[in-house]
Amino acid sequence: VGVTFQLMLAVGTAAIGSLQFGYNTGVINAPQKVIETFLNDTWNHRYSEPIPAASLTTLWSVSVAIFSVGGIFGSFSVSLFVNRLGRRNSMFIANVLAFIAAGFMGFSKMAESWELLIIGRFIVGLYSGLSTGFVPMYVGEISPTPLRGALGTLHQLGIVIGILMAQVFGIESIMGNSTMWPFLLGFTLIPATLQCMLLPFCPESPRFLLINRNEEIKAREVLEKLRGTEEVGTDINEMKEESRQMMREKKVTILELFRSPIYRQPIFIAIMLQLSQQLSGINAVFYYSTRIFEKAGVSQPVYATIGAGVVNTAFTVVSLFIVERAGRRSLHLTGLLGMAFSAVLMTVAMSLLDQLPWMSYVSIVAIFSFVAFFEIGPGPIPWFIVAELFSQGPRPSAFAVAGFSNWSANFIVGMTFQYVEQLCGPYVFIIFTVLLLGFFIFTYFKVPETKGRSFDEISAGFRHEAGQAGDKYAPDEMNSLGGADSQL
Ligand code: GLC
Repeated sequence: VGVTFQLMLAVGTAAIGSLQFGYNTGVINAPQKVIETFLNDTWNHRYSEPIPAASLTTLWSVSVAIFSVGGIFGSFSVSLFVNRLGRRNSMFIANVLAFIAAGFMGFSKMAESWELLIIGRFIVGLYSGLSTGFVPMYVGEISPTPLRGALGTLHQLGIVIGILMAQVFGIESIMGNSTMWPFLLGFTLIPATLQCMLLPFCPESPRFLLINRNEEIKAREVLEKLRGTEEVGTDINEMKEESRQMMREKKVTILELFRSPIYRQPIFIAIMLQLSQQLSGINAVFYYSTRIFEKAGVSQPVYATIGAGVVNTAFTVVSLFIVERAGRRSLHLTGLLGMAFSAVLMTVAMSLLDQLPWMSYVSIVAIFSFVAFFEIGPGPIPWFIVAELFSQGPRPSAFAVAGFSNWSANFIVGMTFQYVEQLCGPYVFIIFTVLLLGFFIFTYFKVPETKGRSFDEISAGFRHEAGQAGDKYAPDEMNSLGGADSQL
């Protein structure tokens, strides 16, 4: 299958949304001190006294965590947009949020207002939450089946490049200082502008055109451009088959995802994979790595953090090249196990640090390998597999549920890690080890391989299993399913 210019333009433009998400995940880490100074000055100006330590901590934590609250709301709203406006126009409109957020954050210092900063972080969180649904959905729907995983990984690649850019720009001599930090946060404006300029040259998802809008001629035109050939009959037929399914399914609401026996299993898998991504502890590293390295006795913690960002990016590229050969399942399993092993190594390094100072190097190795294994599977796969586990009808609702689970878990880890760490000291990573092993077992027994299978084949697999389970456990469900099938 050919990778055409149209296809790469479309995927690349969509992934600018992922980059925004990553950038705003990473941007707040390095300039903590200078922004705290701003909070203190502003407080002083308003109340003519220095800010009390507790208020400073609160204002800071809110500024950090409100981003994931925005993400929770944004991701949950995905299904309100994509069927009404289409996939491409949804991405386009969402940029309104990015512009507003950039303005609020960029001008907060000039306006001497932490309120603007906090609202801006919330709004860019909304944008990012929407992106985590829009991007993998669009990319999944325009990609040819044999490249769906590799192109799906570009969403994660956008995220990690965003994180890395934020880490580098946040260096004190670049933008992480008291005069430049508003530009560091306002930078969001640039990717938003770029995406708005490029999106008009990208096609609407052909699946949306054919299945949701019944515009076969347009869908065919788009597909011919994306594939660079006029022989798109197989794709069109497959979509028509899905379309026939859709007639029965109509639009599947979020509640129906949990009620219907055909969706219960894939939605459970989607949620568990999202949880495995976040509860692996990855963001304990990306939010707090500088502090973790400090505690582990590393002398240049900021550079170690950037090192983690580089490893992060490099291994996402590795995953991109092997995911179509190795498959989703085996890479996810390898990643989880490798992370569990690295977490144990980290614990050993942290607890022996007092006796053996060279353990600080071991902890760097442990964190780097933790991050590397994350990007092999648990980073990219949960995002794009949601598109694969569902057909057109339930897909938007499934993305809403999956995104909501991901962002909620992200919020919980971000909020509680520091407290749990105070309680457990060097043993904090043991908690993640246990969780990782649990998710390994789940994946081993429950997650099917989706590589190389069309959307329709994958959902037929679940229908089949639901039918069999119904056979064994619930004769009623079996009947209703049988009835539905005979309408085909
Ligand atoms: C994934 C996660 C995100 C994390 C990133 C790290 O995209 O969803 O929360 O920060 O990977 O690379």
